[in-house]
Amino acid sequence: MTFRPAKAKVGVLVSGRGSNLQALLDAAADPAFPAEIGLVLSNVPGVYALERAARAGVPTRVIEHKDFASRDAFDAAMDAALREAGVEIVCLAGFMRLLSAGFVSGWAGRMLNIHPALLPSFKGLHTHRRAIEAGVKLHGCTVHLVTPELDDGPILAQAAVPVLASDDEDSLAARVLAEEHRIYPLALRLLVEGRVRVDGNRAVVDAPGPGEGIRNPEM
Ligand code: GAR
Repeated sequence: MTFRPAKAKVGVLVSGRGSNLQALLDAAADPAFPAEIGLVLSNVPGVYALERAARAGVPTRVIEHKDFASRDAFDAAMDAALREAGVEIVCLAGFMRLLSAGFVSGWAGRMLNIHPALLPSFKGLHTHRRAIEAGVKLHGCTVHLVTPELDDGPILAQAAVPVLASDDEDSLAARVLAEEHRIYPLALRLLVEGRVRVDGNRAVVDAPGPGEGIRNPEM
C-alpha cells in the first residue's frame, strides 16, 4: 500500500450551476490530488451545484443570505459551517455574494476565487460583454487569493483566450469557461502544496519539482 499524506479539506461556496465545482470534484476524484472537497455550501437553495455535490457524495449545506439581518451575521453562519466541517481552504466557485472584511480576514491566504476575466481588467459582473465592447483581443480567467477588495488579491493562475470577431457573449463565455475548469484545480493544487508565497499583492509561485508533471504555461 502506498502511503499518502492527509488531504487538505476544501469547502466550496457556490450560488448556481457549479461547473467550476465540478472541475474541482473531478480533480479531487484522483487519489493523487492533494485536496478533498469536504463541504459544498450554497446561499441559494435548489441550485444545480448542490446536485453535483450530492452525486459526488460530498456533504452540502444551504445557508440563505436572506435569512439573516446583516451581511456579518450571514458570513458568521457560513464561517461556523465551514469550521464545523473541518475546512482548511475555501474556494469560491460562482459564489455571487460580497464577503465581509471579517470573513475574508479569517480565511486570509486560504481562500481562492475564480473570476472570468484577466484581472485586473474587468472586475465585477458581465465581464464577457464588457470585454467584447472594449474590443480587447485577448480575454480569459484568473484564480486569485481573496482579499477584502472585490476581485483583487494575489494572482495564482491565469489563462488567456482569443476574442474572435464573430464572438457574442455566450461563445466567449464558453471559451473562457473551459479554461476556468482547467486552471482552478491547478491553482488549488499549488496552494495546497505550499508552492505559493505572497509578496505584497503578488503571489510568487514555485516552479514544479522535477517529475511532478504540472504543466501550465500560463502561470
Ligand atoms: C464562472 O464563470 C465564474 O468565473 C463566475 O461565475 C461563473 C460560475 O459558473 N464567477 C464570477 O463572476 C464571480 N465574480 P459555475 O457556477 O458554472 O462555476
